[in-house]
Amino acid sequence: MAIKYIDQLNLEGKSVIIRVDYNVPLDKEMTITDDTRITATLPTLNYCLGKNAKIILISHLGRPDGKIVPRMSLKPVAKRLSALIGKEVKFIEDPISDKSREEIKKLKNGEIALLENIRFYPEEEKNDKEFGKKLASMGDVYLDDAFATAHRGHASNEAITKFVKECGAGFLLKEEIEYFKKVMANPERPLTAVIGGAKISTKLDVLKNLLTKVDYLIIGGGMAFTFLKAKGFNIGKSLLEKDLLNTAKEILELGKEKILLPADAVIAAEFKNDSPASIVSIDKIPDDMIGLDIGPETIDEFGKILKKTKTVVWNGPMGAFEMTNFAKGTIEIGKAISKCSVSVVGGGDSVTAVNENGLADKMSYISTGGGAFLELLEGKTLPGVAALDK
Ligand code: 3PG
Repeated sequence: MAIKYIDQLNLEGKSVIIRVDYNVPLDKEMTITDDTRITATLPTLNYCLGKNAKIILISHLGRPDGKIVPRMSLKPVAKRLSALIGKEVKFIEDPISDKSREEIKKLKNGEIALLENIRFYPEEEKNDKEFGKKLASMGDVYLDDAFATAHRGHASNEAITKFVKECGAGFLLKEEIEYFKKVMANPERPLTAVIGGAKISTKLDVLKNLLTKVDYLIIGGGMAFTFLKAKGFNIGKSLLEKDLLNTAKEILELGKEKILLPADAVIAAEFKNDSPASIVSIDKIPDDMIGLDIGPETIDEFGKILKKTKTVVWNGPMGAFEMTNFAKGTIEIGKAISKCSVSVVGGGDSVTAVNENGLADKMSYISTGGGAFLELLEGKTLPGVAALDK
């Protein structure tokens, strides 16, 4: 792929359209509760400002399904961005109207505009060509810095690229692409993947693809119990995807040299933080108990593998870490991961665990992508990235 990066494009004095992913969480008062996705784009925005460019930002927020949904407005984002970047961000309410287009045209060098949620238009998710053309006509150059949306082929990251003269990836997307290459294409070995979370069904393709690439595949979290059941263990009332037992057996067979499963578990009678917990060996889970975290022996065994690992990719917690009494496994494995030479973390829950436990600045890279990160792990080409390859 020959994608141009932001620093290979001439942006001096140009009108630069940038697709960002400002799909941030908002509380009931419409206050942004986590602005990571906004701050992550500041290097790109500041670079463009340094080139005296005009900036036109496009994003979505939530899934309004082509309709105007006021609580999914990007207005609070314009305000937060303005505070973070220290200059006014013009908010364009109805970007496709003639009046707004005039407003965009009147932008001066060094000014920033943010368009209203692009998913308020049904054409966006349909990847409508004409719509992409309209968006493209708003500027001279197009940059995509929305890694978290790159697994979608929509008008603002796919169709638009057909109509702009020049396009490329911003610094955030560049970093995501480069880090991923470092981990998957040419890693320093041993390469280990740590995969957790509740269900195998959402990560089947991830597991299959990773087995072709890694030296070790560590499996924890709720999904481990379907594998343990497939191996013949009694898992009590732990999470089980019955219909995937045969698939789990196949995966275990495929990865018999590489897969590591828990050797013990922290169990409780109920899925509640205050449900009395105990630690048992994996072959001793009683019928009426639920496995909610990995135990100390597992932490030790997984830790030994991570100690000799040079490159690690992590997606998904090792237990029900949202309950403090069952968070130890995830925290300890997070610590071990952070000590590897190259550590890349992606996916909502593992990123939350990293942030909540002061591990963020110890990791080599934390991806901003959820679904997009998983699709990369599945070995897929992301439409938003492929579209930049002109
Ligand atoms: C995300 O949060 O994963 C991205 O913003 C994509 O959102 P979507 O799943 O609604 O397309």
